[in-house]
Amino acid sequence: MSAVSNLGNGKITVPDLLHRKSSVAGSPVESKKITCLTAYDYPTARLLDEAGVDVILVGDSLGMVVLGYESTLPVTIEEMLHHTKAVRRGTRRALVVADMPFGSYHTDTAESLRNAVRFVKEAGAEAVKVEGGERRLELIARLTEAEIPVMGHVGLTPQSVNALGGYRVQGKTPDAAEQLLRDARAVEASGAFAVVLEAVPRELAAQITRELRIPTIGIGAGPNCDGQVLVIHDLLGLTFDGPPKFARQYADVGQIISKAVREYCKDVREGGFPSDAESYHAFPSSTDRKKIYTES
Ligand code: KIV
Repeated sequence: MSAVSNLGNGKITVPDLLHRKSSVAGSPVESKKITCLTAYDYPTARLLDEAGVDVILVGDSLGMVVLGYESTLPVTIEEMLHHTKAVRRGTRRALVVADMPFGSYHTDTAESLRNAVRFVKEAGAEAVKVEGGERRLELIARLTEAEIPVMGHVGLTPQSVNALGGYRVQGKTPDAAEQLLRDARAVEASGAFAVVLEAVPRELAAQITRELRIPTIGIGAGPNCDGQVLVIHDLLGLTFDGPPKFARQYADVGQIISKAVREYCKDVREGGFPSDAESYHAFPSSTDRKKIYTES
């Protein structure tokens, strides 16, 4: 994949991310860590975008943190499209990447390609993410050939939870580490523009990052990756079981919401809300009713 520079308006593009790699084809270039966070709706996407995050991932973690499923496996393509459209509407600068959900790229390649096209054409995604390494070689090559940029995802791949027997750190034995290296190399060889490394020892993530020419985006993979990704609910304190070991909680938004809602309920029950200032007064004429939402 060639590394053509961006559109000159601050919009993050796939070539920009390739440029972030500390060295491309041996030439020293700007080295700047890639910031990536998940978002699933319009307001969150706007806030992340305006705060300067580089990549917004509409992760299929949607299923667990927004829809209340036990795993990512039940998430459907329609659900992912719905949320990707909302994120697209809230994003101007960041690159929008959509996760392809379980089952949407596991049958034949033609069907997988049709599904990936929907993310770009209907939902406005600029890239898709698929889980798996060597097994996805042919698929990733086919999608990139069809001009759909692909982000790979190796290590702990949550869609493989049944096959892996749980959510565990991957690549801990020499054989497992060797397989993970092969997976990461396969993702790069097939044409992906970046790869997520999830829950792998930091030493192995550092080695993969050194070896690959495409950026690595770590989650539970230590500090030496080319970028980092977190699930926004972990960062904001919006999960109910506390964040995983690798996540850092920067705010307790859950507590802020609970406090605000308790105060609202108390005010309503005690007659403290709405006040006279928060009420409308008699309409000058019935034809002015349409002003109801604009009157100050
Ligand atoms: O679904 C998701 O949010 C992800 C990230 C954790 C990388 O795949």
